[in-house]
Parts: sequence; structure tokens; C-alpha cells
Amino acid sequence: MKLFVVNGPNLNMLGVREKNIYGTQTYEQLIGYIREVCARENVEVECFQSNHEGAIVDCIQSAYGKADGIVINPAAYTHTSVAILDALKAVALPAVEVHLSDVSKREAFRQVSYAGLACQKSFIGMGFRGYEEAILYLKTIIEQEA
Ligand code: DQA
Repeated sequence: MKLFVVNGPNLNMLGVREKNIYGTQTYEQLIGYIREVCARENVEVECFQSNHEGAIVDCIQSAYGKADGIVINPAAYTHTSVAILDALKAVALPAVEVHLSDVSKREAFRQVSYAGLACQKSFIGMGFRGYEEAILYLKTIIEQEA
């Protein structure tokens, strides 16, 4: 089983950006955490981060025929990107949305998730653990479908 984990803009600044919201752990630590979870669960993983919408669309498209599922934190593009929504719909792979912070309790403009419309589930406000929950959820549904 292979999963893509896709992270959007400014998540490479974890540990530096708004620590009161996103915590003190770095993006490298997040990737280490995801790799540990996947190794434990016997899941192959490809991690990707970009600050560019088109690069994220390219990455999602490249998952077609290559991955069994997608974990995505589109970051700010969550709330704006029809292109990312359409890419997720195009590849039609099981997808799960993750947000480190509890976007439901933040600004009004964060209450809309375009990407979420193409996701089977969302894990919100759980920090790094949201990625673990997303991986476990995808593993379960992919195994059921097999
Ligand atoms: C985020 C929430 C978004 O609203 C924000 O733009 C981010 C990170 C999160 O993980 O909590 O960059 O996706």
C-alpha cells in the first residue's frame, strides 16, 4: 500500500510560524513522525510540500496509478483552491484532509474547505496526530476495498 502525504504553503515554516497556533515542532519533525507511523503500519509513503498551487495539482495528478490514497493539508489553499479540489476529484483516490489547528474555531474565511469536498474525512485541530489518524483511516478503507 502506498500513500501520498501532501502539504501546502507555509507548512515548511512549522516551528517558526505562529507557534501559538501551530506549535514548536518543525516540518522535518512532522515528516519524521509520518515516516515512523507509516513504517509501523507497513505503508509506503511519499511526502511532498509546496508553496505553489500548480505544483500541488501536479503532485496530486502524479498520484494517479501510483498511490492508493492521499493525505492532504492544503493549508491556505484549502479555503481558495478549486484547482486542488478538481485534481482530487480527477484522480478519484480515497483522500483525507488534515489541519493542525482547529480551523472551525478560527476566522470566518477558514470555514470553507474546497479540498474537503473531495475528501472522505477530515481530522482537524489534532496537531501531528491528525496525520496519524488520517493514515490509519485510509489504511482501513483501502484494505476493506481490496
Ligand atoms: C492549516 C489551517 C489553514 O487555515 C492555514 O492557512 C494553514 C494551516 C492547519 O494545518 O491548521 O496554513 O491548514
